[in-house]
Amino acid sequence: MTVDLLWRNVPCDFELPDNEVQVWRAMLDRPLSRVQILHQTLSEDEQQRAARFYFDHDRQHYIVARGLLRALLGHYLKVEPAQLRFTYNAYGKPRLVGQPDQPSLSFNLSHSGGFVLYAFARNRTVGIDVEQMRTNLDYEQMAEHVFSPYERQEFCRLAAEQKPDGFFNAWTRKEAYIKARGLGLALPLDQFDVSLHPDQPARLLKTHSEPLAAEQWSLCALTMGSGYKAALVVEGHAWQLRCWQWPDELSLGI
Ligand SMILES: CC(C)(COP(=O)(O)OP(=O)(O)OC[C@H]1O[C@@H](n2cnc3c(N)ncnc32)[C@H](O)[C@@H]1OP(=O)(O)O)[C@@H](O)C(=O)NCCC(=O)NCCS
Repeated sequence: MTVDLLWRNVPCDFELPDNEVQVWRAMLDRPLSRVQILHQTLSEDEQQRAARFYFDHDRQHYIVARGLLRALLGHYLKVEPAQLRFTYNAYGKPRLVGQPDQPSLSFNLSHSGGFVLYAFARNRTVGIDVEQMRTNLDYEQMAEHVFSPYERQEFCRLAAEQKPDGFFNAWTRKEAYIKARGLGLALPLDQFDVSLHPDQPARLLKTHSEPLAAEQWSLCALTMGSGYKAALVVEGHAWQLRCWQWPDELSLGI
């Protein structure tokens, strides 16, 4: 894999070649007028889900995350965002249906704090995770619950000042892997190891019950700036990463 971790401004005529994985970063806070336009592109079940949020702020973030997802998919597939239909696997992972000419476009998204990240690829599965690095967590206790024995050992060895980075490195890498697999927490978190040391490269090190899986997936850390961590997991290794920043004025037909 070749990775370009800089968030670049997207060219007007962007496409998604077969050998590329494209990651988009966008802010979830948008003017209300924009949120209302995005709301109109959502399906009935998405609008019903939006209506169930208790706080306006959460509802608006959900609408923006789904609306931008539809806008991007619509651009890649050259269809109206509102025409896209999703189906969900048993663990909630969405995928596209009813795109006979484009069966291979896969995507995943993650939101945390003020950001949403999207990953898109053709002919390969992807999983992405972003986390705002909350400081009010008991890292040690959570590591006991969600890390593998190897990861717990590595985490214990970190100096106190490295622990927040180490913790969220592991968290986002593990989450991106289970999201790529689409299995949610049905994939036991202690059954695979990721690297977490802040000075070492991001890697899926070992998958205990499926020894070959670790070689079939590639993992990279995404640069988010201070206060956030993010990771991407992609099926296979022969791909190139491009990271796009959603500019405020980009309309993509919405
Ligand atoms: C639901 C889950 C997929 C991610 O939850 P999350 O981190 O709260 O949410 P994110 O923002 O990263 O991702 C949510 C998006 O992933 C997608 N998604 C939902 N279920 C998914 C699944 N099984 N696989 C992949 N993607 C999924 C959806 O698009 C969803 O967004 P939407 O509901 O707005 O459409 C799942 O992994 C989970 O429950 N995790 C629990 C957290 C945990 O204990 N993690 C331990 C890590 S060490």
